[in-house]
Amino acid sequence: MGLGDLYREVLLGHYRAPRNRGRIEAASFSASDENPLCGDEVSVFGRVEGDLVAEVKFEARGCVICVASASMMTEAARGKTLGEARALVAAVEGLVEGKGDVEGDLAALSGVKDYPGRTRCATLPWTTLAKGIEEYARRRQDKPRRGEIHQPRAEPWEEGR
Ligand code: FES
Repeated sequence: MGLGDLYREVLLGHYRAPRNRGRIEAASFSASDENPLCGDEVSVFGRVEGDLVAEVKFEARGCVICVASASMMTEAARGKTLGEARALVAAVEGLVEGKGDVEGDLAALSGVKDYPGRTRCATLPWTTLAKGIEEYARRRQDKPRRGEIHQPRAEPWEEGR
């Protein structure tokens, strides 16, 4: 069995039995996006504990590459810090363009580099995850943490006193 066959088997395995398909009620973040080339859609739901991605689930209407990539994404992102998860997204984006390496089942996505018209199928679940994480991080930054003293800004007429 050649490497291409092996990669195809890995992708089909995830497509036929996707891991972590579904929604997370009370998710810390969720995001949806579509592939403009075909109209397929992916939604990603995540639960964050501290700085860790504790759980990720997805819903998708898409091709084998897209659903398999989403399934692999949920497994790879779980247990990562938010920063590590973002780095993984960048690594997969590079991989499908023929740059860099990743470990485990994810390596099967490297076969997509030979089909440039399909790279978006593979990256869609990952960029949707990144979108959810960005929005979550922004919300968290805006919210004063518990125990933090909120210092209101001076009113305009008080400035310069
Ligand atoms: Fe639509 Fe792949 S053809 S996501």
